Amino acid sequence: MDILVTKTSKPGTLPQEDKLGFGKYFTDHMFVMDYQEGKGWHSPKIVPYGEFPIYPSALVFHYGQATFEGMKAYRTVDDRIVLFRPKDYLNRFNNSNKAVCIPPIEVDFVHQALKKLIEIDKHWVPGSVGTSLYIRPFIIATDPCVGVKVSDTYKLFVIMSPVGAYYASGFKPVKIKVEDNYTRAVKGGLGEAKTSANYAAGMKAGVEAKKEGFAQVLWLDALERKYIEEIGMMNILFKINDEIITPPLAGSILSGRTRLTIIDLANDLGLKVTERKISILEIYEAHEKGQLQEVFGAGTAAVISPVGELTWKGKTIVVNDNKTGPTAQKLFDTITGIQYGKLEDKYGWIDTVAKL
Ligand code: COI
Repeated sequence: MDILVTKTSKPGTLPQEDKLGFGKYFTDHMFVMDYQEGKGWHSPKIVPYGEFPIYPSALVFHYGQATFEGMKAYRTVDDRIVLFRPKDYLNRFNNSNKAVCIPPIEVDFVHQALKKLIEIDKHWVPGSVGTSLYIRPFIIATDPCVGVKVSDTYKLFVIMSPVGAYYASGFKPVKIKVEDNYTRAVKGGLGEAKTSANYAAGMKAGVEAKKEGFAQVLWLDALERKYIEEIGMMNILFKINDEIITPPLAGSILSGRTRLTIIDLANDLGLKVTERKISILEIYEAHEKGQLQEVFGAGTAAVISPVGELTWKGKTIVVNDNKTGPTAQKLFDTITGIQYGKLEDKYGWIDTVAKL
């Protein structure tokens, strides 16, 4: 399939790199493709970023049939534009699609389309420390119908946003509330899919936690309110007695690509990473015994997000003196080092898109 390219006649002004924030600016172009039952994915095109027509009755607005991905392109120290594990993200996109009855995308084709889009907008990839181009592929159900059903038509978009560090405060430990009232997901539900509903489900708890002075919540399992699941919109890892423990992917947790990267890197970095159920009580007991060394979140947007304090039922534990621990720092430096081309990529994770 050929990708039709229409270039913008009004290129935007590049934002100031020290004022990027996260997800506020968009590049000049976007990729769009349509799906029709019986015809499949068709009419791929790259067009100027902008509004598009859609019926108010489109199914996505009513029943939430929508999925998305989030990956990044980086400007390396030797002025290449690279993607990090793009096919791993696009394969996960299809897992999410399956969960909400959206037809699968053709990963190789979308990967090539994405590279073409980045090549066109490559001057939008910022170059200062900590910045990158956040890439947001997403699919929405477009049948104009308010009857509850699986849509026969969809639109796939890829939009791109130059971003700074995810947290305004930068790479600093955050305060977290252990959430024992609301739940995010339950096994058999949508927790392992990157679908809008999961993010909507987490908002109320996040807003309340922020009012109480926390950066985010730590989610416990929905059935027993005992086992740890995720932190905000990220995976979570604990370092106890020199072992890194992270909850297993047991049906309600998103298979984070940064989580996967940490597991893949563990051997080479001399780290022991174990995927197992871990309860909030075990964390408290490990802290009491002086064995809890570090806690950190892992996600594409923030990479690594160290936790400085955890509050559960009014009790607060301070982790590593509210400082970023050596393992969180090492993982952050290694992952970003590979992404920015400062460290060798022994793993085949870097996909060079363009040369500046
Ligand atoms: C990530 O960690 O990349 C996320 O999932 C956050 C994103 C929804 C902005």
